Amino acid sequence: MSDSIKIEFVALGPLSAQTPLQASSKRAAGKAKSAQALVVFMGPDFAFGQATLRLIGADGEALIRKAAAAAKFKGKPSTALDIIAPSGFAADRLIVIGVRAAQVEKDKTAKKKGENDEALREKGGEDAAPSPGDYANLGGFVIGKLGRGGSAVVAFDLPRPPEDPAGAVAEFMLGMQLRDYRFDAYKTKKKDDAEDSGPTEIFLAVDEPSAARREAKAREAVAEGVLIARSLVNEPANVLYPVEFADRAKALEKLGVEVEVLDMAALRALGMGALLGVGQGSVRESRVVIMRWRGVKPAKESGKTKAQPIAFVGKGVCFDTGGISIKPAAGMEDMKGDMAGAACVVGLIHALAARKAKVDVVGAIGLVENMPGPEAQRPGDIVKSMSGQTIEVINTDAEGRLVLADVLWYVQDKFKPKFIVDLATLTGAILVALGQEHAGLFANDDDLAEKLLATGNATGEKLWRLPLGSAYDKMIDSKFADMKNTGGRHAGSITAAQFLQRFVNGTPWAHLDIAGTGMNSPGSDLNQGWASGFGVRLLDRLVADYYEG
Ligand code: BES
Ligand code: MN
Ligand code: ZN
Repeated sequence: MSDSIKIEFVALGPLSAQTPLQASSKRAAGKAKSAQALVVFMGPDFAFGQATLRLIGADGEALIRKAAAAAKFKGKPSTALDIIAPSGFAADRLIVIGVRAAQVEKDKTAKKKGENDEALREKGGEDAAPSPGDYANLGGFVIGKLGRGGSAVVAFDLPRPPEDPAGAVAEFMLGMQLRDYRFDAYKTKKKDDAEDSGPTEIFLAVDEPSAARREAKAREAVAEGVLIARSLVNEPANVLYPVEFADRAKALEKLGVEVEVLDMAALRALGMGALLGVGQGSVRESRVVIMRWRGVKPAKESGKTKAQPIAFVGKGVCFDTGGISIKPAAGMEDMKGDMAGAACVVGLIHALAARKAKVDVVGAIGLVENMPGPEAQRPGDIVKSMSGQTIEVINTDAEGRLVLADVLWYVQDKFKPKFIVDLATLTGAILVALGQEHAGLFANDDDLAEKLLATGNATGEKLWRLPLGSAYDKMIDSKFADMKNTGGRHAGSITAAQFLQRFVNGTPWAHLDIAGTGMNSPGSDLNQGWASGFGVRLLDRLVADYYEG
């Protein structure tokens, strides 16, 4: 976990704006006194929570009204008013963060009309109840305003009290940790601004610190998982090649995860000809890694019913040059992120194991490097997949589906999972269709698709479902083999998904095309970096909400 931010929960009740809080950790002792901030929340029309009003007092409120008028600050979400604290306050800065106000009455009428919160939110409605993702974004926004170094007291007292206060503040904390992440391992010149380089000490003041602490512990595991995924995606491909990636996945053993690494001999013995064909142009060996977290002991089996895990599969192309069908030079460096699906699976298994989730789960990743070279596969080559189905390789740049074909087949065959969700930076076409807002969702199972869509809206890692069908499936029939690996220009993301579907053997399955959301991400409240860690929060919550216990 990043050590540039320290978060402590304190009680809101006894808090006083005039008394400074002392960091409990030794590390803070002897530190030069740096700016302290008091962070409070406000809705439109100077809507403050009761505890906030008590904390800032009449003087504070008057000052905020005056400053707000001067700065035209209306308390709208994602805006802030940053002013000098009134004299007598322990803090130097007083930061007022805009949030949506309480709209309890309107809520009731809206609900009567049969509108749900999601529909309201989509319309930009003020009435919708905040989702967990909203609290995370708020935490991220606050860290963005605070900057690094110094300390802050955050009075977590919202004009519209959350339905689940401990859950809300835990999400808020998660958002802070995600926003704080930076990938600067390769920057040898550190900023000499001491203020910036010091840790930020956050006192998160809540009604019930012990409940918040309990909830925050599980969220901490999720934050770690997201940051692990991000760092894997951000690493350059000369450092993170398949064998190195497999070694990093092995580290999950410390958390009690069973990790099996299939090497070249094992992959050959299994007949993974589709995956091996992609890797054969590279001097780096390919690997498949199988992770298993057994958070529930299989019920004493009376009959032969075996434990049925759930399964997550990730595309791990450590670098995608396109192979012989080589990509243009411009932007090719982004293809170090073509393993974002695999990174998400590792981050997710970390999160589940670290928070001791009560679930039996398999994570499987196919790790290769797609390179041109004397031994690389050619357009027109026909490979035999582990399933026995043959594939004509029309374009060596459509390599992700070849890798996943064998890993999906292996997972359904070996584990007979309840369902499989795969994640892959699979097609540029998904960026054309959905941009960087939604990941593409494809599924052969409506129930699984609905759960994923709902979880996407709750976490803010949003999905948009696209169709599958036999007319699309026909587009990948081949003249010379059972299928070909591209379906032409039309419906590129769908034909890629149809290809994958041919390898799940009827297992309930969903495919997330994260080419637009997993990497090269625009800055947001939760992320300033390039890699997003997309999918970790989504799938952790999917497990928590539907498959635990
Ligand atoms: N890794 C790429 C897809 C991709 C594109 C990921 C942009 C992230 C950002 C994938 O392997 C690929 O090259 N797909 C081809 C498929 C085509 C050859 C059928 C594509 O999308 O152009
Ligand atoms: Mn490719
Ligand atoms: Zn690729």
